[in-house]
Amino acid sequence: MTVLTQFDATAVPAPQALEGFTLTSSDQSPRLLELTLSREVVDAFVSAVAEWPVQALEYKSFLRFRIARILDDLCSNTLQPLLINTLADRRTGGLLVTPEGLNQVEQAEDMVKVSTAVAHLMGRSNFDAMSGQYYARFVVKNVDESDSYLRQPHRVMELHNDGTFVEQDTDYVLMMKLDEQHMEGGNSLLLHLDDWEHLAHFYHHPLARREMRWTAPPSKRVDKDIYHAVFDVDRDGLPVMSYIDQFVQPKDFEEGNWLADLSDSLENSAHRLSVPVPVGSFLLINNHYWLHGRDRFTPHPQLRRELMRQRGYFTHANTLRQSRQR
Ligand SMILES: [Fe+2]
Repeated sequence: MTVLTQFDATAVPAPQALEGFTLTSSDQSPRLLELTLSREVVDAFVSAVAEWPVQALEYKSFLRFRIARILDDLCSNTLQPLLINTLADRRTGGLLVTPEGLNQVEQAEDMVKVSTAVAHLMGRSNFDAMSGQYYARFVVKNVDESDSYLRQPHRVMELHNDGTFVEQDTDYVLMMKLDEQHMEGGNSLLLHLDDWEHLAHFYHHPLARREMRWTAPPSKRVDKDIYHAVFDVDRDGLPVMSYIDQFVQPKDFEEGNWLADLSDSLENSAHRLSVPVPVGSFLLINNHYWLHGRDRFTPHPQLRRELMRQRGYFTHANTLRQSRQR
């Protein structure tokens, strides 16, 4: 029988011996930390990496790790251990990162570089089939003709994990706001598995470990179905989840109704967080026990939002503990 972790507020690391950035708990939850990179570090980073446009990072994978080291050096090498430990610590495992001074869409290239550096201090971002790059930028407008809720503004995108219909490990998700015009609402929604009131109920159900079929719509450019259960355990034996409402294909009445109950329970959790992400900031979460989604926003003819995402796998022994057992 698995013992679920009890949240201990003292687990939040104290802001000590950090150079070039600050760390606090967010207003929404002590589990979600806020990391702010100082203006000095951001400016020094932007000029140190100016010789490489984002295209250089696309073409040469190793440069992503080189700019990561540049950022960590500017923080006297205190950033990398902090990121690794936070992403590995199930009691928190999530950050809202704000690089000071990057808040205009004209600085989007620099935003991509900073977030790439942060991601590659603790992992490596996967190839994103939608964009053909290691990251994807996409625009949300008032009218949308796509085939999933990713870009549809006027409704909630329900809580889910990423990477449910691909074979790559998706240990972390990074979601950055590059631009926002005429936007009301649309906060990011987050739920930590250990805060979910009905985790034990669903995790101990016989269907929790039954393999189900997951399939993606054409825009995702993934043509192969994959099979896995909604729940698994990490290497510490604690529950992790790989679930998305839109792409699971229940095979019968029993699976379909269990999934519908699970979806209702997640959406109605009192512990769901609603987090505003300012332009230039990004969320970085452990994808195994943080579910994410997006709240609805108010229609506006000139509404525009541009986002960037990176998903990838952990590369450090401390974080690997959190991967799914496979
Ligand atoms: Fe997602």
